[in-house]
Amino acid sequence: MEYRKLGSSDLEISAIAFGAWAIGGWLWGGADENEAQKAIRASIDLGGTTIDTAPVYGFGVSEIIVGKAIESVPRDKIQLLTKYGLRWDTEKGVAFFATQDNNGNDINIQKFAGKDSVIKECEDSLRRLKTDYIDLYQIHWHDESTPISETMEAVEQLLKEGKIRAAGVCNYQTDWVDEALKSVNIVSNQVPYSMLRKDIEKDVVPHSLEKNIGILAYSPLQRGVLTGKIKSGYKFNEGDNRADLPYFKGENLTKINAFLEGIRPIAEDKGATIAQLVLKWTLEQPGITCALAGARNIQQVEDNLKAASLSLSEEEKFQINQGIKSLNLDL
Ligand SMILES: NC(=O)c1ccc[n+]([C@@H]2O[C@H](COP(=O)([O-])OP(=O)(O)OC[C@H]3O[C@@H](n4cnc5c(N)ncnc54)[C@H](OP(=O)(O)O)[C@@H]3O)[C@@H](O)[C@H]2O)c1
Repeated sequence: MEYRKLGSSDLEISAIAFGAWAIGGWLWGGADENEAQKAIRASIDLGGTTIDTAPVYGFGVSEIIVGKAIESVPRDKIQLLTKYGLRWDTEKGVAFFATQDNNGNDINIQKFAGKDSVIKECEDSLRRLKTDYIDLYQIHWHDESTPISETMEAVEQLLKEGKIRAAGVCNYQTDWVDEALKSVNIVSNQVPYSMLRKDIEKDVVPHSLEKNIGILAYSPLQRGVLTGKIKSGYKFNEGDNRADLPYFKGENLTKINAFLEGIRPIAEDKGATIAQLVLKWTLEQPGITCALAGARNIQQVEDNLKAASLSLSEEEKFQINQGIKSLNLDL
C-alpha cells in the first residue's frame, strides 16, 4: 500500500481508504454486518488503514460497525475519518432530504452545524466508534443557516481538546473553504470524483493544490458501475437507490460498459481488474490524495486495495482519457 500525507496535516493515510457508507445499508438496500466487519479487518490487514464513515450512514449503524471491527486493532495503526453536520433528530438547520431508515421509518435529514451540535455529534461519534479521538473530522454538507465561523469555533475547540487530530470539509465550494480557513487549518476536502464525474477539475482541484488541501475522492467507482459488473437488467435490492440513478440505466449504462470494454485490455495486460484500473487512474490525477472506495465484503476489499500497486504509463492514461472524453452521457 502507498501512504500519502494529507494536505498540511501530519496524517499519513492509505491511498485507498475503506468507504463505510454501503455497510450502513441506508440507500444501499441493506447490508450484512458480519461481512462488513470482516471486510474492514481485511482492509486493515492488507494496509488499507484509513476508514471513512459518517453518523448518517445507516443513522449510526456504520460507525457502530466500524467501532466493533477495530476494537482489537492498535489505535495508532488506523486512521478514522468521520463527519458531522447531518442530523436526523432535530428540526434545526436546513432541510436536506426526506428518506426512510433501514426499517422503513420516515426520517428527515437536516443540514445543521451549530456550535453545540458539532460538539454533541463528536461525543456521539466517539462513543459509537469506541475511541477517544477522531483522526479527521469533516463537515458533511454546508449548512447555510449557520455562519461557517461558528461551526469552526466548535472544530477549533475539539482540536484543542485532542478529540480530533485534523479538520476537513466535504462537498465544499472553494469560497466556503476560504471562509473556513480564516478560523481553522482545513486539511482536506472530500468531494465526488471519478472517470464519470470530473467537475471538480475546474475549480476545486486548482484551489486545493494552491492551498495545500488534500482531496479525498468519493464514489471513485461511481457506486459500482465502474467495476463493469452492472449490466442492463441488474437486480438491485429493495431500497438500493442506485436503481433510479442515471448512470445505472438505459443508454448511459450501455455507453459506460462499452467504454469499460474499451479499456479492459489495459487492465488485462497488467493482470488487473477494471475496478483496479479505475482506482489507480483516480489516484494518478492531480490533487487527489486518496480514493475512498466503498466495499461490502472481503473480495471487494482485496480487489480494490491491489490498485495502489499498479503502474500506469502516460500512453495508457492518454488512452483512458480519450475514452472518457468521447463518453457523452445524458445525466
Ligand atoms: N462526503 C460525502 O458526501 C460522500 C458521499 C458519497 C460517498 N462518500 C464516501 O466515499 C466512499 C466511497 O463511495 P461510494 O461507497 O459511494 O461508492 P464507490 O466506492 O464508487 O462504490 C462502492 C460500491 O461499489 C461496489 N464495489 C466496490 N468495489 C467493488 C469491486 N471490487 N467489485 C465489484 N463491486 C465493487 C460495492 O457495492 P455493491 O456490492 O452493492 O455493488 C460498493 O459498495 C463511501 O463509502 C463514503 O465513505 C462520501
